[in-house]
Amino acid sequence: MTGASGLVGFEISEQLSVSGHDVVAAYFQHSAGSKSVKLDIGDEDSMRSTLEQHKPDWVIHCAALTNVDECEKNPEKAFEMNGNASGRLARIVKKQKAKIAYISTSFVFGGAQEKTSKKSADASLPLKEDATPAPINEYGKSKLEGEKQIIASGARHLILRIDQPYGWAMPWQKSNMVTWTLDKFAAKEPFSIVYDWYNQPVYLGNFAPVCARLIEKDAQGIFHCAGGERISRYDWAQRIGRTFGCDLRLLTKSTSATLNLPAKRPDVLLDNSKAEKLTGIKMMGIDAGLAAMKKNRPAAANQ
Ligand SMILES: NC(=O)c1ccc[n+]([C@@H]2O[C@H](COP(=O)([O-])OP(=O)(O)OC[C@H]3O[C@@H](n4cnc5c(N)ncnc54)[C@H](OP(=O)(O)O)[C@@H]3O)[C@@H](O)[C@H]2O)c1
Repeated sequence: MTGASGLVGFEISEQLSVSGHDVVAAYFQHSAGSKSVKLDIGDEDSMRSTLEQHKPDWVIHCAALTNVDECEKNPEKAFEMNGNASGRLARIVKKQKAKIAYISTSFVFGGAQEKTSKKSADASLPLKEDATPAPINEYGKSKLEGEKQIIASGARHLILRIDQPYGWAMPWQKSNMVTWTLDKFAAKEPFSIVYDWYNQPVYLGNFAPVCARLIEKDAQGIFHCAGGERISRYDWAQRIGRTFGCDLRLLTKSTSATLNLPAKRPDVLLDNSKAEKLTGIKMMGIDAGLAAMKKNRPAAANQ
């Protein structure tokens, strides 16, 4: 697994290990435990030799340049890391007759304009896997390029599109929306959150078993695996505060214009029914995900 030290990769790696799979966890700068190997996805020879040494059945590819605004400022780097490196990895995977699972994003879509999939012309319906992508920022374009190069490689592939994954962060990991918001509440200073960004946040304790089940079922193709509910960042922060018993008076509303960030954010609604049907696992709504997170706090987590 690439990116096994990251937020998403670490959770999938734990889930697969618990389910009895032998996981080789590849990290870049932060060692992710005992069975881990250092790997730079920018180094093709190193990717080839790592795969030749470990001969995996599946390569779960989570490593990426994930900072959306950094991708906007540095599109060549984003394209190289998220697009070309993914393609090179997939071609090595194909040569070794393994399979690749790529963690992709709802940001391959741009928003309301694509809410027409081949099977549905109703603009109010969520996007199915066959809707035509049209990213509106460099991160989305680079991740879509990764999808395209993986498909073109001819390797057997699984592409999982997620949105705003959240869960407890390990000490070396960046914060996610929930841990960031809890930190803000804990500081007991007033803070604001934008109300005009919408997401479909997915709890990692819900997504990781879906990912594991799809791999165990040898699934192929694209699957949408976002959370079960679309919500604004501000409303999400309120739900976080409520679930964890924080002082909601500290939270105020702001607009994204005040953040002055380079990358536009799409407002995308994904249809998860294909993954839910095949795995038998329902994607959780916000309250269920937050309640599960509250219950399952690992001792090593930040916060
Ligand atoms: N976070 C989101 O909101 C979100 C939303 C949708 C999709 N996704 C996708 O989910 C996947 C995982 O995201 P995440 O949130 O877990 O990201 P993350 O926490 O930022 O982790 C990124 C991972 O990539 C590794 N990495 C960075 N540069 C590398 C390099 N040159 N070679 C090898 N590995 C490298 C990092 O390793 P070290 O830490 O060891 O340096 C880390 O394990 C990504 O493909 C991302 O696009 C994320």
